[in-house]
Amino acid sequence: MRSHYCGQVTEKIVGETVTVCGWVHRRRDHGGVIFIDLRDREGLLQCVFDPDTKDAFAAADRLRSEYVVRITGKVRPRPAGTENAGMVTGRIEVLGKEVELLNRAETPPFHPDDETVGEDTRLKFRYIDLRRPEMQQNLRLRHQVIKRIRDYMDAHGFIDVETPILTRATPEGARDYLVPSRTHAGKFFALPQSPQLFKQLLMMSGLDRYYQIARCFRDEDLRADRQPEFTQLDVETSFLSQDEIMALIEGLVKDIFGHLLDVDLGTLPHMSYAEAMERYGSDKPDLRNPLELVEVKDLVADVDFKVFSTPAKDPKCRVTALRVPGGREKLTRGEIDKCTEFVKIYGAKGLAYIVVNDKAKGREGLQSPIVKNLHDAALSGILERTGAQDGDVIFFGADKWRVVCDALGALRLKLGNELGLTAAGWRALWVVDWPMFEFDEDTQGWISLHHPFTAPKPFDADALRANPGATLSQGYDIVLNGIELGGGSVRIHRPDVQQAVFDLLGIGADEQQEKFGFLLQALSYGAPPHAGIALGLDRLVMLMAGRPSIRDVIAFPKTQTAHCPLTDAPSSVDARQLRELHIRSTVQPKVAPGTDTAA
Ligand code: AMO
Ligand code: AMP
Repeated sequence: MRSHYCGQVTEKIVGETVTVCGWVHRRRDHGGVIFIDLRDREGLLQCVFDPDTKDAFAAADRLRSEYVVRITGKVRPRPAGTENAGMVTGRIEVLGKEVELLNRAETPPFHPDDETVGEDTRLKFRYIDLRRPEMQQNLRLRHQVIKRIRDYMDAHGFIDVETPILTRATPEGARDYLVPSRTHAGKFFALPQSPQLFKQLLMMSGLDRYYQIARCFRDEDLRADRQPEFTQLDVETSFLSQDEIMALIEGLVKDIFGHLLDVDLGTLPHMSYAEAMERYGSDKPDLRNPLELVEVKDLVADVDFKVFSTPAKDPKCRVTALRVPGGREKLTRGEIDKCTEFVKIYGAKGLAYIVVNDKAKGREGLQSPIVKNLHDAALSGILERTGAQDGDVIFFGADKWRVVCDALGALRLKLGNELGLTAAGWRALWVVDWPMFEFDEDTQGWISLHHPFTAPKPFDADALRANPGATLSQGYDIVLNGIELGGGSVRIHRPDVQQAVFDLLGIGADEQQEKFGFLLQALSYGAPPHAGIALGLDRLVMLMAGRPSIRDVIAFPKTQTAHCPLTDAPSSVDARQLRELHIRSTVQPKVAPGTDTAA
């Protein structure tokens, strides 16, 4: 139907007759001359109609926003002074000769140019929202990233294999989406939280290098970087060491950034989990942010201030300082109070602080509700260790280790952003040497930091059983600008080690057989050493597109409450369907009087 995309009509083809198709972006009537800005996926094109071409002029006069049309006309330079340097097609226009109306449009609920529309409306009319050039760009970038991934994986000998969507629960830690079985009464499939066990089985099948752009399903609390269904680049390899697979994936991420954004990520540093938590209070540190947590436990163990001294003597606690350079000028009293409220979200009971006015004056030069409680040695030790300068503010967290990490880690990010301390650009790293387990006070049991198929370091069942709390794993996460981009591990390839992990996690022998019998069996029939990783594709594209939410890079995402405003899913089903599935709902249907829903 067309000779060119709108966005391809440039001064190179001045004088030619073109036929373009698209949507009426805007129609302007300039005293007898009608301007139609026509839009397609490649851009906007200005088409001009003057009364000399009578039929075309009349047809153009009837066009309205979002009508779909086909226009034929001659490309000519715009009159001097009317060029638009901001547009690819800004130097030319098309003098319209023919207009064919392909379809009318009702007045749309919002104009694709309107940036102020709420997200619920955008999602309800997603097809209009996706007409916006930014959204088109995002989806196109996503396509380019996937193409680059496929090329890289193919060049490195990976084979794309699809794994089941109707499967059984996999322990990635979230709630499952369940699908009732009609043919097996009372039984359910689970949608995969990841293809974890299947990709391991593919290694036992001798496939050697597997990858998949895999859809995963997790019923968890949603955030800007979490959707109930999302996409992973899922990878598994045989006979590669931890360093080898990390290098391979680092090569891929660098390839994508190099080719698509012209960004060199450099060589990714490796940081232990312990160091990340100690210095940044986070297992996904944003290294663009210069603020760091500094341990002061030893300096305050003997002060006459129980808020500090009690946790300082408890091995399960931290007492930690966060110095904000120039904080005195940047933070008002009210803002410091807001920070105190902010850390309470993370369970902190308070936020002690010291404003450093004049270091040379000793305690007289410090302004703070707590200096009276700290002896001279503690004060000077804190100033020295944090590297405090006049004009700084030092915040303190004293509590359970996890509470301090979460509270000061979050405060660090907040202040870094709000005070403009966080640098622009890209900072990626690997977080390695994770503990195998964390002790859960609620259940009084061990829980895996990665999943239970992650190999311990050293790879030895007895050593692991002897000291589960201190054993590190061969897990690794790749982190970019403070966002967990991906995670993986060297896997357990021997049944005795796998059993030890299940035992420590409190999964009894019967449950092991029932849930993972097929894996334990496969491990006993010749399982190669293997290792893998999964990268969150949505997060990768979100970061590359500079968007704040993965919803912006997913064509049809769900809302924060896991609802699709476009299709209104999830929806009720009729009683007959439920009966077929051997299911009865406990939710009373809303029945209009006199109607029978049990048809
Ligand atoms: P993990 O659970 O760490 O590992 O997931 C891997 C990556 O997937 C992304 N991700 C998500 N993205 C959007 N919405 C979500 N709800 C969501 N959950 C996770 C993150 C994360 O880093 N099977 C293992 C991988 C392996 O060991 O090979 C796994 O799924 O970017
Ligand atoms: P208080 O003794 O409760 O008046 O607290 C004195 C100062 O210590 C206040 O600035 C509190 O915000 C702060 N504070 C209280 N609990 C903690 C804590 N667990 N960690 C850090 N600061 C705290």
